[in-house]
Amino acid sequence: MSKFTIGVVVGSVRKGSINQKLADALAKLAGADFDFRAVKIDDLPLYNQDLDTDTPPESVARLRSEVRALDGFLFVTPEYNRTIPPLLANALHWASRPYGKNSWVGKPGALTGASIGPVGTGGAQGALRDLLGVLDIRLIGQPEAYVHVKDGTFAEDGSIADEGLKRLLQTKIDTFTAWVAQVSGK
Ligand SMILES: Cc1cc2nc3c(=O)[nH]c(=O)nc-3n(C[C@H](O)[C@H](O)[C@H](O)COP(=O)(O)O)c2cc1C
Repeated sequence: MSKFTIGVVVGSVRKGSINQKLADALAKLAGADFDFRAVKIDDLPLYNQDLDTDTPPESVARLRSEVRALDGFLFVTPEYNRTIPPLLANALHWASRPYGKNSWVGKPGALTGASIGPVGTGGAQGALRDLLGVLDIRLIGQPEAYVHVKDGTFAEDGSIADEGLKRLLQTKIDTFTAWVAQVSGK
């Protein structure tokens, strides 16, 4: 049985999402002690403080308890107009509340993202890094991975075909999983 459970938060639920593809490929690079599981964020209502009562919507209560239980988080985001998609921002805000009960606090994290443009989600990752810092998520800083998806980035089976990128992502996953083990103290 895996010792650590990592939540994978992907900012796109589009069929054929390159970010989902990247998240799946990353999870396969980790050792057997780490179980990566998807955090569902597409059934949350749009954040409205009026809904944020002692009995929030069921999907929100589920997200918050899931976040509290997980050992760490891998965020994989598309870039929308140089920032993160509203789908991802919405989930981050829901689990940051109610005030004083931020479910993300202290959790180890890592972020990356894939885009079809040469910026490779540089703008989105910068915005996300700031937001995750405010939420008290303890991010690894290096290595950064800005993934520009082109022909030949992925193999037919979904693995990373670009050897240089694969080496970078392997280092990233190794650094992140070691950080999760250190922070969780298990
Ligand atoms: C509203 C919108 C804004 C976008 N803005 C950017 C952008 O700022 N930079 C970029 O590289 N790609 C941008 N794109 C293109 C995305 O990189 C591309 O759609 C990518 O496939 C989205 O990720 P996904 O496949 O995981 O859904 C944008 C796409 C949309 C729909």
